[in-house]
Formats: sequence, C-alpha cells, structure tokens
Amino acid sequence: MLTNKARRSLIKAAKEARKMAYAPYSKYKVGAALLTTSGEIITGCNVENASFGGTICAERTAVVKAISDGHSTFIAIAVVTRNGGFPCGICRQFMNEFAPELIIITADTKGAIRNETRLNEILPHGFGPQELYAAP
Ligand code: THU
Repeated sequence: MLTNKARRSLIKAAKEARKMAYAPYSKYKVGAALLTTSGEIITGCNVENASFGGTICAERTAVVKAISDGHSTFIAIAVVTRNGGFPCGICRQFMNEFAPELIIITADTKGAIRNETRLNEILPHGFGPQELYAAP
C-alpha cells in the first residue's frame, strides 16, 4: 500500500526529474521516480541519442541508477509526462525483472494522477527469471 503522502512525493520527484530530460529529438520529456522498499526515492529521465536506438527511457534510467547504487527492491514508480503516458513495453519488461507487482502511477505535468495500476496488470504473463530456472 502507498500512502497519499508517498504518492505525492513520488510525483513531485518525477516532475523534477523530468526537467533534466535530454529529449531534443522527440521533445517528449519523461521523468520517473522509483520508491525503494527502504523508503528512498531514486529518479531518472529519458536521455535521447542522435543514433535514435541509443535512447534510454526515464524508467530504465531510474532502475539502472537504483541497482547500481545497491537498491533492488521496489514498491512503486511515478512517471510524469505532458499527457500521463504509460511506460513503454521495453520498460515494462525491464521493471518486471525486479518488481512484477510494482505500483505504476502515471501523472501529467500538473501533477494530476492519470492512472494507477500494477506492473503485472499492464504486463500480463511477463517473462521473468522464473522462466529460466523452471524445469523444462
Ligand atoms: N520514453 C520514456 O522515457 N519512457 C517511456 O516509457 C516511453 C518513452 C521516452 C523515450 C524517448 O526519449 C521519448 O520518450 C519518445 O519516445
């Protein structure tokens, strides 16, 4: 469960992170804020590249920052865009590795919540580590 206070802090952090987005090509800035089970908030933004395929999304930036700082258990992520867009398929898969039940909050730049769901709702039957360890 997420308190309203935690929800508001996450959205605020994602909104701030969005300001750091490097999105000169799409102009679609994205900010993300990840809440760890230890109560820390780790943020990320999208970073585009002139070789477009080199672009990394805000959600994956946040997860990579978290993992490389030693945090690997997560409760929720807030994603802020101009229109409350959902995490892309690659990010859903990437987050599924660590937190299939992650709470996903999408919000717009006014801070209004557009949707709140769980990762396994928007990535049903996700492919995860269990597939590689399960008996054939
Ligand atoms: N983007 C994200 O940061 N997260 C998503 O889940 C969807 C897409 C970024 C990638 C690219 O910089 C821009 O949004 C347009 O696709």
